Amino acid sequence: MQELQLLLVLAALVLLSFLSPATSCTEQEKSSLLQFLGELSPDSSSKLSRSWHSGTSCCMWEGIACGNNGTVTELSLPSMVLEGPISASLANLTGLRRLDLSYNSLSGELPPELVSSGSVVFHDVSFNRLNGKLQESSPSLPHHPLQVLNISNNFFAGEFPSTILEKKSDLVAINASHNTFSGELPFSFCISSPSFPLLDLSYNLFRGSIPAEIGKCSSLRVLKASNNDNINGSLPDELFGASMLEHLSFLKNGLEGKLDGKQITNLKNIVVLDLGSNNFIGDIPDSIGQLKRLEELHLDYNRMSGELSSALGNCTNLKIINLKYNNFRGELLKVNFFGLLNLKVLDLESNKFSGEIPESIYSCSNLTSLKLSSNKLYGQLSPRIGNLKSLLFLSLSKNAFVNIANVIHALKNSRKIHTLILGTNFKGENIPEDITITDGFQSLQVLSIPSCSLSGKIPLWLSNLAKLEVLDLSNNQLTGSIADWIHGLNFLYFIDISNNKFTGDLPTAIMLMAMLQSDTVAIQLDPRAFEQPVYAGSSLTYGKNNALPSMLYLGNNMLTGAIPSEVGQLKSLTLLNLSFNSLSGQIPQQLFDLTNLQVVDLSNNLLTGSIPPGLSNLHFLTTFDASNNDLEGWIPADGQSSYPYNFSGNPKLCDPTLTRSCDSAEAHPVSTVSGEETTPKIVFAIAFGAFFCLGVVYDQVSQIFTPLFVTLLEMSLFANIYSTICHSICHLCGLPAVDVATAEKK
Ligand SMILES: *[C@@H]1O[C@H](CO)[C@@H](O)[C@H](O)[C@H]1NC(C)=O
Ligand SMILES: *[C@@H]1O[C@H](CO)[C@@H](O)[C@H](O)[C@H]1NC(C)=O
Ligand SMILES: *[C@@H]1O[C@H](CO)[C@@H](O)[C@H](O)[C@H]1NC(C)=O
Ligand SMILES: *[C@@H]1O[C@H](CO)[C@@H](O)[C@H](O)[C@H]1NC(C)=O
Ligand SMILES: *[C@@H]1O[C@H](CO)[C@@H](O)[C@H](O)[C@H]1NC(C)=O
Ligand SMILES: *[C@@H]1O[C@H](CO)[C@@H](O)[C@H](O)[C@H]1NC(C)=O
Ligand SMILES: *[C@@H]1O[C@H](CO)[C@@H](O)[C@H](O)[C@H]1NC(C)=O
Ligand SMILES: *[C@@H]1O[C@H](CO)[C@@H](O)[C@H](O)[C@H]1NC(C)=O
Ligand SMILES: *[C@@H]1O[C@H](CO)[C@@H](O)[C@H](O)[C@H]1NC(C)=O
Repeated sequence: MQELQLLLVLAALVLLSFLSPATSCTEQEKSSLLQFLGELSPDSSSKLSRSWHSGTSCCMWEGIACGNNGTVTELSLPSMVLEGPISASLANLTGLRRLDLSYNSLSGELPPELVSSGSVVFHDVSFNRLNGKLQESSPSLPHHPLQVLNISNNFFAGEFPSTILEKKSDLVAINASHNTFSGELPFSFCISSPSFPLLDLSYNLFRGSIPAEIGKCSSLRVLKASNNDNINGSLPDELFGASMLEHLSFLKNGLEGKLDGKQITNLKNIVVLDLGSNNFIGDIPDSIGQLKRLEELHLDYNRMSGELSSALGNCTNLKIINLKYNNFRGELLKVNFFGLLNLKVLDLESNKFSGEIPESIYSCSNLTSLKLSSNKLYGQLSPRIGNLKSLLFLSLSKNAFVNIANVIHALKNSRKIHTLILGTNFKGENIPEDITITDGFQSLQVLSIPSCSLSGKIPLWLSNLAKLEVLDLSNNQLTGSIADWIHGLNFLYFIDISNNKFTGDLPTAIMLMAMLQSDTVAIQLDPRAFEQPVYAGSSLTYGKNNALPSMLYLGNNMLTGAIPSEVGQLKSLTLLNLSFNSLSGQIPQQLFDLTNLQVVDLSNNLLTGSIPPGLSNLHFLTTFDASNNDLEGWIPADGQSSYPYNFSGNPKLCDPTLTRSCDSAEAHPVSTVSGEETTPKIVFAIAFGAFFCLGVVYDQVSQIFTPLFVTLLEMSLFANIYSTICHSICHLCGLPAVDVATAEKK
């Protein structure tokens, strides 16, 4: 009986010890953790110290988890804004299996004791500021349980110690990307740890050729070494021994040579092959058709040539074919796209493909991006392109396609398409005007049809493109006036209709565009497509950066009338070009309220009157061109330095930098002086001016001023202040002025 009772009590105790939450950790563990806390910068650890105090069991502390027997098994403090070093005391937590300190601002070295820990299985210190070398304290430990080491996004440098990867048979993944490791790729570990599956070494400074040892890594499934710039030589035969590879990326390096048809078939499991931005030559081997699992083929930005292998049509899992910027040629008709029903992205931009677009492409109903710009393609698009219901991005520019009306008709019912880049085709056709849009084009954000010599008027159907953000119709032969309905396009912020034959007055409506009026320039194009149009140089192209400036380009047309004072409402505008028109009247003062302006081109018009005050409000100017007009009076002081201003070709303008006297200056009322002038200042100015400016004008600066003052004048800041005052005064005195800085240099 008694024995049974004892047994029951014992059983209950055992049960209790299992059920009760782990509440104790050893004093030693507690002090190791408190030491870690103590070494962090005090500001950053204050939030943590609220829960981490010695009175409670450390198993209850924030970010800590303990095992059943109370041993600390997990330290998980991601995104806690922690600063300071990682204490080596953490290596004393002998039961620690999971360490996650990612997304903090921890700095200093990673303690070698921690790297060699005999307990840690998951080690994530990614997204910190750790630096120095990666080192182990005792590389000869018999068993390392380490499975995952994520040290990406830090500042680690020096060689990557291959020993870290050796004899660790449990390793699953190492991510060392986004650091500054250098030296050769560390593949000698493949000899001792052949079963290792995932290695990411991208965005480092590795150099030299790919070591032959890689072939021993027979279990490698993911290998990324992109963006190292300096990995060179050809793909070694041994690489193709890693036949388990599913993802291979050497994007953006200096690799060269041909893709060997025999070798490539060894990569039977390859899903993603990314060799873009290298120096590969030769063609795509026919044996590519045997890579049945291939989903992504990136060979962009190389020097590859030849015709497209028809075998590509056998890779039925392909989702992305990216061959842009190579020298591929021949007809696309060779490839049977009927088999590629999973294709989402076909990017053949900037090659030498010729012929027509093959009908089979239109059966790839999952296609989201079709990029064929800058080739030698011709002919018409089939109306079947309208069947590509998933299509978001279509670029056909710089080919020799005909019949733009067909393209617009075929796509006008598409509800998804958001980017249409069609320029430099359709030579001399009419822009289609008789199109009725009911519920199509409802996602269209970018419409770009420049350089087609299109004639006709801006078609009314554009007014239905409610989501339009970017409109480029530049370099055509379009006529008529700019319609008032344009201001109904509430999201439009990039307008280039320059180099056409538009007539009529500059409409006030265009100054009331909602998006250009918004104070915050927070417009982002839809990020769904990989690449978006960007404004590069002076034309619209497309690339990775998806922020376009807000701009209004109406230059080189036949617009007349004055610049409406409502221009002052275009608060977010950064680029304004009204050059080469016949605009008349004054420059509205409100123009200088647009403080985001970077480029203003008003040149080659018929603008008259004086330059209103306020030019100095435009702090971000890189160009202000008002040349070849009929402006008169004084250039405001801020406009007198040659950069970024150009006022040449205005014969009535007093231009002190050219030491041109201004006969008509006396006729100018005081009101042309900056409005900030006050009466006492004017009184002072007249006295000051009579003394100094006369001298400046009629004598050499150096003859009046002491050498010290002249030295001060040479400091441009001082000179500018001086010239500001002086010109204002000379204005009042009705005297021509000389720019002191210029005069002194002579
Ligand atoms: C606690 O359990 C772990 C295994 O979960 C073991 O490694 C460790 O030695 C134990 N600690 C104590 C103090 O019993
Ligand atoms: C780890 O513990 C040992 C003794 O248990 C101690 O001597 C050592 O200072 C500790 N190390 C750190 C870094 O706290
Ligand atoms: C670090 O890498 C591991 C393994 O790939 C992954 O599980 C973990 O989520 C990564 N950490 C972060 C912060 O992305
Ligand atoms: C490695 O980490 C980076 C982020 O730091 C991540 O973008 C990348 O996908 C990771 N690599 C692998 C193979 O998971
Ligand atoms: C690779 O680059 C190194 C310098 O980083 C150079 O010494 C070597 O000759 C290059 N190898 C090849 C095959 O271009
Ligand atoms: C592509 O597939 C077809 C039919 O399955 C086959 O006849 C042809 O040989 C394959 N081509 C290549 C290069 O694999
Ligand atoms: C298109 O993609 C969807 C999922 O994105 C998939 O379910 C469907 O099977 C694909 N269609 C074809 C024809 O492959
Ligand atoms: C303004 O437009 C005209 C006509 O298109 C062009 O020649 C000029 O270069 C443009 N100005 C600037 C600053 O881009
Ligand atoms: C200023 O404009 C004139 C006429 O448009 C031009 O010839 C000259 O090169 C321009 N000067 C500068 C510095 O850009």
